[in-house]
Amino acid sequence: MSGRNLYMPQLATIVRITEETHDTKTFTLRFVDDEYRRQFSFRSGQFVEVSVFGAGEAPFGFASNPNRKEDFDITVRAVGRVTRALHQKREGDVVGVRGPLGNHFPFEEVFGYDILIVGGGIGLPPLRSLIEPMLDARERFGRILILYGARTPADRVYKYLLDQWGKRQDIEFLQTVDVGDETWTGHVGVVTTLFDKIQVDPARTVAFTCGPPIMIKFVIQGLLAMGFDPDHIISTLERYMKCGVGKCGHCAINHKYVCTDGPVFSFKQMQAFTEPL
Ligand SMILES: Cc1cc2nc3c(=O)[nH]c(=O)nc-3n(C[C@H](O)[C@H](O)[C@H](O)COP(=O)(O)OP(=O)(O)OC[C@H]3O[C@@H](n4cnc5c(N)ncnc54)[C@H](O)[C@@H]3O)c2cc1C
Ligand code: FES
Repeated sequence: MSGRNLYMPQLATIVRITEETHDTKTFTLRFVDDEYRRQFSFRSGQFVEVSVFGAGEAPFGFASNPNRKEDFDITVRAVGRVTRALHQKREGDVVGVRGPLGNHFPFEEVFGYDILIVGGGIGLPPLRSLIEPMLDARERFGRILILYGARTPADRVYKYLLDQWGKRQDIEFLQTVDVGDETWTGHVGVVTTLFDKIQVDPARTVAFTCGPPIMIKFVIQGLLAMGFDPDHIISTLERYMKCGVGKCGHCAINHKYVCTDGPVFSFKQMQAFTEPL
C-alpha cells in the first residue's frame, strides 16, 4: 500500500451490518472505487480511521480475514459520538476510510510455533483477523488454542463463529463468561481462570492477547507465571488517536507512537515503557 495518501479518506459502502450484541455491530465495508479496492490490502493487527460524515473519525481494528479481498469487517461498540453515529447507519450508506494504519501481528515469524490466543469481549475482532488466516495456513502452525471471555453469554461477539470453532478438531477452543444465565452451561469465571484448563509448553508457544486493559494486565501476569518469555507475549494497545499517522502526538507513550510503532507490541517492548499502560 505504499504511495497511498493516508490523510485522504476513501469512500466505502456499508454492504452488510451484523448485530453482534446489544451495543456492538459488525460493519462490512467495500471501497466504492474499483481500482482502489483491487489494490487494497492489510495485515492482521492493523487498523483504519473511519469517518462518519458530520460526526467525526475514529480508529477500528480490522476484524476480518486479510485473505478476503472484496471487502473487510470492523466490529464496533457504540460508546460515544462517532460510534453511535456509525450504529445509526444502514446498509448502502457510505463512510470514509483511511488506512491501513499501524504495524501488524507477527505471522510468518511464528510459523512452527504453538499459538495461544486470549481474547476478551470486544478484543476478539482483531484476533479473529489473525485466527482466520492461521486456519487458512493451518499446517504452518503447531497447536492453536483459543480462549475467549465475555461478561455474559449475550455479550459474546461472533456467536456463529464460536460455535464453529468449538466443533473444529484442529484447534482447541474454550470460552467463559463472568456471569452466566439460564441458557449457559459452560464455564463461568474471568478468562484467566481458563489457564487452569490448558497445558502449554511456553518455550514453543507464542501468545496473542487483546481485550480491556485490566484483562490484558492479568493475562500477561498469568502468562509470565506459566513461564512465557516476554518476547512471546504479543498484545495490542489502545490510545486516544487523532491523525493515526505519527504526526499529532496524541497517542504517544514515552518515545513511541501507538499509531505507527503499534498498536501491536510484545510485552518485552511494553516493559521499556515508563508510563503505566
Ligand atoms: C488502534 C485502535 C483500534 C480500535 N479498534 C476498535 C474496534 O475494533 N472496535 C471498537 O469498538 N473500538 C475500537 N477502538 C476504540 C474506538 O476507537 C473508540 O471506541 C472510539 O474512538 C470512540 O469514539 P466515539 O466518538 O464514539 O467516542 P467519544 O465520544 O470520543 O468518547 C465516548 C467515551 O468513550 C471513551 N473513549 C473514547 N475513545 C476511547 C478509547 N480508545 N478507549 C477507551 N475509551 C475511549 C471516552 O473517554 C468517552 O468516555 C480502537 C481504538 C484504537 C486506538
Ligand atoms: S494519533 Fe497522531 S501521532 Fe498517533
